[in-house]
Amino acid sequence: MRILSGIQPSGTPHLGNYFGMMKPAIELQERGEAYYFIADFHALTTVQNAAALRVNVHELALDFLACGLDPARSVFFRQSDVPQVAELAWILSTVTPMGLLERCHSFKDKTSRGIAPSHGLFAYPVLMAADILIYDSDIVPVGRDQKQHLEVTRDIAIKMNETFGSIFKLPEPAIQESTAVVPGLDGAKMSKSYHNTIDLFAPENVLRKKIMGIKTDSTPVEEPKPMEGSVILALHKLVASEADHLAMENDFRVGGAGYGDLKKRLFGAVWEYFAPFRAKRVELEADPGHVEKILADGAQKAATVADGVMRRVRSAVGIGPGIDNAATRP
Ligand code: ADP
Ligand code: TRP
Repeated sequence: MRILSGIQPSGTPHLGNYFGMMKPAIELQERGEAYYFIADFHALTTVQNAAALRVNVHELALDFLACGLDPARSVFFRQSDVPQVAELAWILSTVTPMGLLERCHSFKDKTSRGIAPSHGLFAYPVLMAADILIYDSDIVPVGRDQKQHLEVTRDIAIKMNETFGSIFKLPEPAIQESTAVVPGLDGAKMSKSYHNTIDLFAPENVLRKKIMGIKTDSTPVEEPKPMEGSVILALHKLVASEADHLAMENDFRVGGAGYGDLKKRLFGAVWEYFAPFRAKRVELEADPGHVEKILADGAQKAATVADGVMRRVRSAVGIGPGIDNAATRP
């Protein structure tokens, strides 16, 4: 089973990215052949500063490795190190109906937040389909907001198979319902673009300040607190032990603990949860060459798979020499 996912180096990863995508991806690396990449071609739709992009890519590689991505088990690489994916995106775009892309929420969401409505932003799901199809992926772990992109990928793969004969496998999304949408400081979906994030590797004082700033209601200390929709409880459940979480739920139910106290406990639990990852990150930071070597080795392995699939694709569409497709089909 081949597992594949990507994450954009478009800013600092937060709890939503970790619980929605990184953690499930890291857990899945035990279950098959995992391919994980840093989507720098995609990030160009929003990050248009060369120095910033390079820094983001390196930092994200550190973050992902620190959180447990194991280069001995997973192929970890930079999207742009396998540029064949841009060639495939072009080929896919020639069978992709405009209407399919016009229906995508993410383009509308992003442009409504002020991101330039470039062709790249509009065609983003086609490049994502190429990412997935070029590695013959079976399973794609992502947060719920990427579900529609997986549907688009399947539709494009079906259209290619109908048009040119069987070329692609149909991938399935893997969305963990318990963490499909991690709430941010204001209760809306945690997202870089909503400025409501808690970053994974924020310094202690910044993290404490953020958590103490979670919006709460004015229920007095001694009274029971509403549990439904509580950001404190939702985040605490992700990071605390079961016993600690039951204790916190009980405090909500019976009252007696103020929000300040509850937030302090949440801060403690978040800080502790990420402590081993922080230590690992410090180790990795000390050896940037090692991280670059991991990405370079990953790119080489990924390119081997991509080259095989591209031979199949080119032959099927009539570009380059014809080969016996049956021999290379998945
Ligand atoms: P952002 O919304 O902060 O820009 P991205 O769109 O870069 O985040 O998301 C990267 C990955 O993290 C995707 O797989 C996405 O589904 C997941 N993700 C992002 N935010 C959340 C969240 N609040 N809850 C669950 N998953 C999330
Ligand atoms: N679009 C994804 C996001 O914003 C990132 C991504 C790019 C991706 N290509 C992918 C995710 C392929 C899974 C598979 O989070």
